[in-house]
Amino acid sequence: MNINLEEKFAEQYHKKADAVYFTPGRVNLIGEHIDYNGGLVMPCAITLGTWVAIAPNNDHKFRFKSLNFEIQTLVESNIVNDKDGSLWANYPIGVINEFIKDGKEINGVDFLFYGNIPIGSGLSSSASIEIATAYALNSYFDLGYDQLELVKIAKRVENDFIGLNSGIMDQFAVAFGEKNKAIVLDCETLKYKMVDVDLGKYVLAIINTNKPRELADSKYNERVAECQTALKLLNQEITLHYLCELTAEKFALHSHLITDETILNRATHVVKENDRVHLAAKALNGGNLEEFGRLMYASHESLRTLYEVSGKELDTVVDFCTDYDHVIGARMTGAGFGGCAIALLEKGFEEDFAKQLTNDYVDKIGYPATIYISEIGNGPHLTTDTYR
Ligand code: GLA
Repeated sequence: MNINLEEKFAEQYHKKADAVYFTPGRVNLIGEHIDYNGGLVMPCAITLGTWVAIAPNNDHKFRFKSLNFEIQTLVESNIVNDKDGSLWANYPIGVINEFIKDGKEINGVDFLFYGNIPIGSGLSSSASIEIATAYALNSYFDLGYDQLELVKIAKRVENDFIGLNSGIMDQFAVAFGEKNKAIVLDCETLKYKMVDVDLGKYVLAIINTNKPRELADSKYNERVAECQTALKLLNQEITLHYLCELTAEKFALHSHLITDETILNRATHVVKENDRVHLAAKALNGGNLEEFGRLMYASHESLRTLYEVSGKELDTVVDFCTDYDHVIGARMTGAGFGGCAIALLEKGFEEDFAKQLTNDYVDKIGYPATIYISEIGNGPHLTTDTYR
């Protein structure tokens, strides 16, 4: 699809856009469901993302339009607003509310969004639109926030306004992404390192299960609560702020405090997944992609059996990858319950992989998955390339 966002902006608003910004989506290479447990995660930005064209107006209104949705939303400026009926606009509204609460004066702005991240696919379309709004307004009006402040604001929107008790990984990843690099982020201290991703003879494939998300948000919040329960139980004997402060050895010494099997499984996943990220970072730095792939499979297995956030669709994809000779690692990425898997696929086998996976997936699930070969892209920026 070829879209000229400036042209579309002029059609919608009968005036010129002043600036167009791009913000990516993300995949998480490894370290799943541990950001809210103070763990180490390894996401990277992708080249799919959200574009936003903006122009200020003089009528004290924020107008939100999107080429992906029909509904246009209007909000009076400088009023801290409730949620709007049209879901997608809540993300930019939430961000503007935070800016206003912070005492920033922004009069009125017309927005036109366009995104090519499949929505609800686990590639962070919501963090992308949050950071897209925050970054665009901060840059255009010189509001003086640094990148980490924007990340924290976007996370507050997600937690307090949207109601998902998510960690900081997605907002951080889309805001700090760099081409061909992964971010190794400690979610407790927010210290991070950019690591070169040299996949050698492999490419990163993203497989969207196209499974509609059902109950994903409530199940997500349930997992967060289960981890808090585990933390409370462990704190009877030791003092911990986050589950990921535990090494596997220390966890073994105190895990008897958790008698409920489900809670124990959740905590076991968290502690071991955190260890896997340390090992994966070492493997990537040392160019040991086979080891990295092995850790991806182990991560998926743990998310499937201990954390129970996978599902038939994601498992079908990962099982196919396990049996396919030219994939060395695969796992679900993001929150799970559907959404996307990622795989390290040998170059030259893209077409064959897509064909065989599609056959197998349709056979077992009844509708096709979508397969992308992904590039690791840059974080938010002003863009003059208005054709998508
Ligand atoms: C979602 C959340 C993140 C993270 C992942 C799972 O993407 O927004 O904070 O918890 O799920 O790793």
